Amino acid sequence: MKEIEFNASNWDLIIDSPGRINIIGEHTDYNHGFVLPTAIDKKIQFKFNKNGSLNTCNIHSNNFNTGFSFELDSVAKSEKQWENYVLGVIYEIQQLSDQLQGFDCVLDSDIPVGSGISSSAALECGLAFGLNELFDLKLSKLTIVELSQRAEHNYVGTKCGIMDQFASVMSKKDHVILLDCQSLDFEYVPIKIEPFKILLLNTNVSHNLASGEYNVRRSQCEEGVKIIKKRYPDVHSLRDVSSTMLNEFKNELSEVIFKRCTYVVEEKERVLNTVAALKKSLLHKLGENMYKTHEGLQNLYEVSCPELDFLVDFSRNYDEVIGARMMGGGFGGCTINIIHQDAVASFIKEASKAYFDKYKIKLTAFEAMPSEGTSIKTA
Ligand code: GLA
Repeated sequence: MKEIEFNASNWDLIIDSPGRINIIGEHTDYNHGFVLPTAIDKKIQFKFNKNGSLNTCNIHSNNFNTGFSFELDSVAKSEKQWENYVLGVIYEIQQLSDQLQGFDCVLDSDIPVGSGISSSAALECGLAFGLNELFDLKLSKLTIVELSQRAEHNYVGTKCGIMDQFASVMSKKDHVILLDCQSLDFEYVPIKIEPFKILLLNTNVSHNLASGEYNVRRSQCEEGVKIIKKRYPDVHSLRDVSSTMLNEFKNELSEVIFKRCTYVVEEKERVLNTVAALKKSLLHKLGENMYKTHEGLQNLYEVSCPELDFLVDFSRNYDEVIGARMMGGGFGGCTINIIHQDAVASFIKEASKAYFDKYKIKLTAFEAMPSEGTSIKTA
């Protein structure tokens, strides 16, 4: 076997694979609703070399100063979860192509793990995108998105929707993507919000409920659909359910299922309403909707946590923050705030102090810039 050259200076290929934000439309993707995400300027960088072997692959993460090797003819799940993101992608590619050969890959990331900006999709999609280039697999971008999602379902065990992978691969600089998660039709919507900025506040907590409870939410929605479908056979997902229809089932659905479905049905409408507002530069409407989404996620969908609620409540005291909410799967990670540029520094300072006083945890804050999706880094 060829010596692994993780310090090589000549790489066959370098890929940048970004994390994502989502303006609005949370937990709607797996219910076939709409989402409004985009990639941001935080990324995992992949450096690839073909290593000349037919079978042996070596992966190294500089951030975690750790790595592992595997053989292409015996890919199997690992005990270490992060390895499953890699192995899952390899497995899914192997279902579509027999062209993979041995490679070395080094990862560098500036996406904080567990912060709700989807370092996992960045990892899956960057790897799939890179191997597609390196071995000329001829997979389309959409195939890369879909196989990465399947990797997360089959190897990692999170039954995620398609939003994160889609945003990581398909995003366009200075735009958000209005994605219909049923048809996968999409539209790039310019995000012109000057003098406002998109500010993320990272709680730096990640309650380990996250992945289990995520799958529970998904099956609660499916349970609601199953009951509604008995009277309305054309209903295949909550996408097909209106609030009038849902209200008919108030006494037939358990209180919990009714709450979950109510949130999704309302959020689905809120995304379209927000896009209409964005197109007319009605930024206060965007902000108002973000707060409503947070309330729904907190009280109806129950995927928030005290740290996230604290930061969203804190933002309400600032006229310069026009909207804020938890972002992503929930139970920790970041809040997304739309804030006037002049107030960014003082808001970060005061929120950090208040958060530290309350939880004795250091807040981290960064501005997110809507950016290009996964791409080949050119010199
Ligand atoms: C996670 C999942 C996405 C989506 C969000 C919630 O990020 O990976 O598919 O469901 O949660 O909107």
